[in-house]
Amino acid sequence: MTTQNSNSGYADVLLGLQYGDEGKARVVDFIAPEYDIIARFNGGANAGHTIETKEGGKVALNQVPSAIFHEDKLMYIGSGCALNPVKLKIEIEKIKNLGLNLEGRLHISCQASVVQPHHMYIDAAMGGAIGSTKNGIGPCYADKANRMHRDKLLNVRTGDLNDDAEHFYRIVETNLEDAAQAFDLQIPNPNEVMAEFMEGFEYIKKYIQPDTLFLQRKVEDGAKVLFEGAQAVMLDVTKGGVPYVTSSNTIAASAYSGGDLSLNFHRKTIGVAKAIMSRVGHGPFATEFGREESEKYCMTSEGDGPKYGKAVEEKYDLDELIKSENEFEMGKALRILSGEYGTVSTRPRRIGAFDIVQLNYAVKMNDVKELIINKCDLLKEYSRTAREKIPLAVSYNLDDEEIDYVPGSVSAYYRVKPVLEYLESFSEDISGIRNYEELPQPMKNFKEEVEKLTSCKVVGVGVGPEREQFINISL
Ligand code: GDP
Ligand code: IMO
Ligand code: MG
Repeated sequence: MTTQNSNSGYADVLLGLQYGDEGKARVVDFIAPEYDIIARFNGGANAGHTIETKEGGKVALNQVPSAIFHEDKLMYIGSGCALNPVKLKIEIEKIKNLGLNLEGRLHISCQASVVQPHHMYIDAAMGGAIGSTKNGIGPCYADKANRMHRDKLLNVRTGDLNDDAEHFYRIVETNLEDAAQAFDLQIPNPNEVMAEFMEGFEYIKKYIQPDTLFLQRKVEDGAKVLFEGAQAVMLDVTKGGVPYVTSSNTIAASAYSGGDLSLNFHRKTIGVAKAIMSRVGHGPFATEFGREESEKYCMTSEGDGPKYGKAVEEKYDLDELIKSENEFEMGKALRILSGEYGTVSTRPRRIGAFDIVQLNYAVKMNDVKELIINKCDLLKEYSRTAREKIPLAVSYNLDDEEIDYVPGSVSAYYRVKPVLEYLESFSEDISGIRNYEELPQPMKNFKEEVEKLTSCKVVGVGVGPEREQFINISL
């Protein structure tokens, strides 16, 4: 750690180490008291960050950092984010309804790119190949990279709109018209779309921070920052399972460019994983139960039916299903038991075993020294499976060769077969345990095996979704 002077603060980075939805937000909510500012540096409304507290109930956040319940904390949305004003307005109103006021607390970088209406339409038309969240994220970052088309600005930023709204609204409108033509988009009422966009921006305008050194100055003056990663290492646009990724950089190194802080303030990177992995969207997932069959099933299902989805799966006989020798069927049972369905779509998420090879890739790349494993309460379900053991992928087999790394080629990653080790399971409900010592021995063995195989300390385990259902080992 190097800081500029003895009074200056520091920054920690918290990242999802797998394919997203590892429970990052619940950890941010848990450790927020240790910090002054919680900051986002990447992504946008594609993130779905859930916090569950006794007082506030279950809240899902998309663009606002997960510190809303800590009223003395500031929150920052950095220049690396793709900001959707329409969705942010809705989110802030939802937070207001919880009795929380973000004025003076939330600051948005004036250098963040704005998700314009045409980005949403292009993503809805083209994002299917990846299985995108249809939040316009890819097209927004594409316009950021493209910068201009002839003499017209493509990358409109929050600061532009703040500076001269009328002028930039016209550009956003022209971008919508041009995209409608170029991509043959059906936009029934463009005037309404623009009106909604402008209304959204006018609403969030007051949160835009004109000082491009806002965070930097705060940390120089002593503030402690927690960068809250969105998405995850395997969804990084460069280092993830390309092309089945999001369009931003999700890794620790990018927290400082996207979060607007010089990197000499970096203290440590905290990684979050979950004990039973999940993935939404297409792409390689080496330890997926049922492999191709599962990917196809999950990616072609239509939420609640008629053949697939939560409502259909919930009718299965779970005791039978989980005992199945067929991994695809067994995976369905684990999905039901772990509630892995899209929050909005209710689409089934792909489910797989804990993958040490993939985790090591993420740990090493980001110098993760502290690991948090969520959803450990669900490990007990493995005791009901035919094998009655907890599977752990310890290496990969690629074309009959054993490897210990994540292949860089997408087709090679699809060919990889996991080499599994099986650990003793437990059947106790651990969701009420708060003290590490009280955990059943097989749970402790799982934790120790992960530590041995990753050379990384497990500092906390999630044993349920609520804030208190967390065992702080050495955070
Ligand atoms: P994020 O995107 O990484 O912040 O994670 P999400 O909020 O999208 O998804 C995590 C889901 O798992 C949420 O529904 C959480 O409430 C839930 N969750 C988090 N930790 C645990 C845990 O330890 N046990 C259980 N059963 N659920 C958890
Ligand atoms: P959090 O922060 C899980 C996935 C999408 C798709 C791919 C690209 O909640 O962990 P995008 O809309 O970004 O162009 O979609 O990335 N994806 C996520 N999966 N959690 C997320 O965020 C995700 N954000 C994007 O499903 O496969
Ligand atoms: Mg999520």
